[in-house]
Amino acid sequence: MTDAAPRRVALLGSTGSIGRQAIDVIASDPGLTVVALAAGRNAALLVDQARLLRPVRVVVADDATRSALDGLPAGIEVGVGESALVELAVRDDVDIVVIGTGGIVSLRPVLAALAAGKIVATANKETLVAGGHLVMPLARRLADAYQAEHGPGGALGTALGWLRPIDSEHSAIWQCLAGEDLESVDRLILTASGGPFREGPVDLGDVTPAMALRHPTWTMGAKITIDSATLANKGLEVIEARWLYDVSPDRIDVVVHPQSVVHSAVLFRDGSLKAQLGTPDMRLPIQYALTYPARHASRVAGPDLLAIGRLDFASPDVSRFPALQIARKAARLGSRATATLIAADEVAVARFLAGTLSFPGIAGLLDQAVERFGASGDQEPSYADLVALDAEVRAACQTAVIAGSVAR
Ligand SMILES: NC(=O)c1ccc[n+]([C@@H]2O[C@H](COP(=O)([O-])OP(=O)(O)OC[C@H]3O[C@@H](n4cnc5c(N)ncnc54)[C@H](OP(=O)(O)O)[C@@H]3O)[C@@H](O)[C@H]2O)c1
Repeated sequence: MTDAAPRRVALLGSTGSIGRQAIDVIASDPGLTVVALAAGRNAALLVDQARLLRPVRVVVADDATRSALDGLPAGIEVGVGESALVELAVRDDVDIVVIGTGGIVSLRPVLAALAAGKIVATANKETLVAGGHLVMPLARRLADAYQAEHGPGGALGTALGWLRPIDSEHSAIWQCLAGEDLESVDRLILTASGGPFREGPVDLGDVTPAMALRHPTWTMGAKITIDSATLANKGLEVIEARWLYDVSPDRIDVVVHPQSVVHSAVLFRDGSLKAQLGTPDMRLPIQYALTYPARHASRVAGPDLLAIGRLDFASPDVSRFPALQIARKAARLGSRATATLIAADEVAVARFLAGTLSFPGIAGLLDQAVERFGASGDQEPSYADLVALDAEVRAACQTAVIAGSVAR
């Protein structure tokens, strides 16, 4: 691998919010081609995408979805399940693997891609929250090998050149760190929109799924939108940042910034604060991860500071939104606790959306799960241990909700 920009893309999660926006970016950049697409169960959209982009291979989650791929152009190979995702991530004709799936379904493909020397661009935070201790050493090893061969510098001479963040906050920090030494960082500052309930209702028990799905500034998939409303998302981002930038969680601040224009900032030890600003549109960080270190023209307009007028900042209200502190507690405990946190959160959010758990019950379930499963045991679990833990925590959380041991 040279510093030549990656051109051939495998996109995992192509039918989701991130996936669709990634396709928008790729389709408008003649330097990029899609070699492979993977989705879960949305067969109709995957077929449309395959018609547009003509990948060599597509992968779906199960046989039922495979049977529903009516109209897939002839000659496109079809794979099914997690092993097929791994095969897709290590193909010889793939330079960069873009992760737009939720949950930990892509952890194995990410590990395989990095082990095979592929660049990974990830919007998915769960992969790092659960498996940062497995993922980051692979990215660092690739960067070290690159430096040993090519000398210092270059887009691939750092771990972040290999494991590129797409989450807007982490992309912002990555951009702020360009040309800087990690040693000179004092604190990282993650901004948070504060979600739709910053100013009420007073009783969060009244919050319905429809209310929580109305995010004030970003249009995203349902899971992350609910996570934004509870501030669990910001907690997951603190953990994600801890791995990406090798900064301890107590040096990562969260500041509520309702306009979502300042995407995040870095405070350096000399007192300088660098922030990255932009229109809240995920196509920008997706494109930056694909074209790094180059900046290509995009269809997203820059922020109009005069029209925005003012930028507000406030402390997060952790008494109303305890999920942020629960995530910090999990981060202090280690990877077993943070893997527990995301498994519990998937159950909690699904239950809330199904109307069988209250909005405050989400944080209640996270707290219970971290206490029960995260506080002891090996805090650097192997991949196999993570998979087993994930299943155990999910089952226990379902039981806890059914048994009513968290506030419904
Ligand atoms: N949306 C955003 O703006 C945003 C911003 C920052 C970070 N993120 C992070 O990005 C990730 C994705 O978020 P999202 O909002 O794009 O989620 P989403 O809209 O729910 O999309 C998830 C994608 O994953 C696919 N998928 C599910 N199970 C799969 C499986 N077993 N194999 C392959 N693909 C599978 C889904 O396929 P089907 O739909 O076909 O079932 C869909 O394409 C999350 O980790 C989120 O935290 C998202």
